[in-house]
Amino acid sequence: MPRFACATLSSGSKWTHDSLFNHEPEGAVACLQSLCVYPEFRKMGIAKALVKHLVKHIEDNHNGVTNMCFVCEAHLIPAYRRMGFTYVGPADPSCLSGEESSQWYDMEYRVPASPKDSE
Ligand SMILES: CC(C)(COP(=O)(O)OP(=O)(O)OC[C@H]1O[C@@H](n2cnc3c(N)ncnc32)[C@H](O)[C@@H]1OP(=O)(O)O)[C@@H](O)C(=O)NCCC(=O)NCCS
Repeated sequence: MPRFACATLSSGSKWTHDSLFNHEPEGAVACLQSLCVYPEFRKMGIAKALVKHLVKHIEDNHNGVTNMCFVCEAHLIPAYRRMGFTYVGPADPSCLSGEESSQWYDMEYRVPASPKDSE
């Protein structure tokens, strides 16, 4: 498969390094942990399709998830904005152990409330 994405649920309010290792099934925040497309398949819309699929999966299988969060580097902020994500601000450097040389930024998507939530 030329692409890969995975996510965990967290009880925090945004992406943290801890959320990489701890999946909390009752958490309300979906943390996108990894999104990668093999170099030879890039710029073909595959990452966009994967993100769209993940968002739809969360919306359709809601289960109380309110936000989807992740961190990215500056050059990808405009692309994620075009996919519907909101720029939150610079990520806390301490949340990126081992990646200190890069500046990362928090992004989020607010999951629309589902009619099922009020049942
Ligand atoms: C970033 C990555 C996942 C993009 O995958 P891709 O399949 O080439 O992306 P897509 O073709 O679906 O492009 C989606 C959008 O991102 C933009 N984009 C893709 N790569 C980009 C880059 N390197 N810099 C800036 N924008 C980029 C595209 O122009 C497109 O924008 P659009 O709204 O105008 O269509 C891929 O380059 C990758 O695996 N990189 C290494 C790992 C990585 O950085 N992952 C992201 C972690 S947050």
